[in-house]
Amino acid sequence: MDSHRLLKIGLFGFGCVGQGLYDILSREESLPYKVERICVKTQGKLRPLPPESFTYDWQEVLADPTLDLLVEAISDAEEAYTIVSEALRRGKNVVTANKKLVAYHLPELLALQQEFGGVLLYEAAVAGGIPIIRTVEEYFSNEPLERVHGILNGSSNYILSQIFKLQKPYAEALKEAQDKGFAELDPWLDVAGADSRHKLCILTAHAFGRTLAPEEVAFFGIDFLGEQDCAYAQQNDAVIKLVASVHLTQDGELVPVVLPSLVNAADDLFVVEQEFNGVVVHGGYSGPQLFKGRGAGGHPTGAAVLSDIVSISHGYAYGYKKLHKTTNAPALALDFQFDVYLRSSEPELVVALGLTNLQNVNRGSDSFSVIGTVSLGNLIKAQEQIRKAGAYVMALSSDFVSNPVAKAKAGVEVS
Ligand code: HSE
Repeated sequence: MDSHRLLKIGLFGFGCVGQGLYDILSREESLPYKVERICVKTQGKLRPLPPESFTYDWQEVLADPTLDLLVEAISDAEEAYTIVSEALRRGKNVVTANKKLVAYHLPELLALQQEFGGVLLYEAAVAGGIPIIRTVEEYFSNEPLERVHGILNGSSNYILSQIFKLQKPYAEALKEAQDKGFAELDPWLDVAGADSRHKLCILTAHAFGRTLAPEEVAFFGIDFLGEQDCAYAQQNDAVIKLVASVHLTQDGELVPVVLPSLVNAADDLFVVEQEFNGVVVHGGYSGPQLFKGRGAGGHPTGAAVLSDIVSISHGYAYGYKKLHKTTNAPALALDFQFDVYLRSSEPELVVALGLTNLQNVNRGSDSFSVIGTVSLGNLIKAQEQIRKAGAYVMALSSDFVSNPVAKAKAGVEVS
């Protein structure tokens, strides 16, 4: 692609990300990139541009030979897959911000790129404006990584900041995250940890050379967070953050999980507030490094899309170096054990989780809370039952490997 001439973009979707990109390109007039066509689904919807700016036939846009590159920024992951896979089948270059699409379909998307020669980039899909995929893919391409963990969802982090810093009620904070354009169309994805799980799957492919199916990753969120849980965090001089983490055990097995976690002032993630994301990459030789930036919102995410557009126009494609280098993709460490807090009204969940080293934290009239040790395998198996029961689970530290923040102070029987 000639990087000096004006590059014409076909944009699918005009929500937060699409508008963010459009606005950036409108302001940065000197850039040789132009949104030539915008394809949206629903006719007659009130939008910030006049109706004649939009087209509604996605197949027609895909077939338009005057477009140099396609940007997919719609929220429905399966519709996005139809568009992106068809575009790749036509050998087109595509940028997407859709994490669910990439998390669920990475193997097929890789195969389509190989077969038809198009390129797919998706920096905006993980941690908004933080260039974490390219950092892990390029900078850390040869250094073995021990762990990648962090806050990968801006909305839930915004909500938790509002709760812990301003004592706002959960529902009010969620409404604000939606109004500010941080949340997904279905905010369950944000607060239940599913969105973080999608992003963790993508990072794992680049960091550890293993494509994880989302179903392989246990995820818990803040949707059942209660006042007692926040009080427990405060008693332990900690706040709660929704942490996505993947690390290699000493046996070379992987531990991917998404869990609310106690985070104290000594933790790298403590300073990551509001809609910011923070990712700690633990290099085997370089040690831990924190990358912090805005994880949600039109401009930060639009800027990541722009960066991908520029990269594609200069011939860049992900090399998937670790994926190609790894002959035996690491298995999951189902026996890996770590400490969690559980609050529920259903004692059978203690059994379902197979909790050991059990200590009582609190016993109310309609619920109890305990801490105990759980295996990754049991967490995966029991997660659906826990969600159905509306129970709340969190890790005792963001460092699942050691140093539980609450361990020393918890376990005190509260009658
Ligand atoms: N809803 C997502 C978040 C948007 O809050 O992080 C960015 O992926």
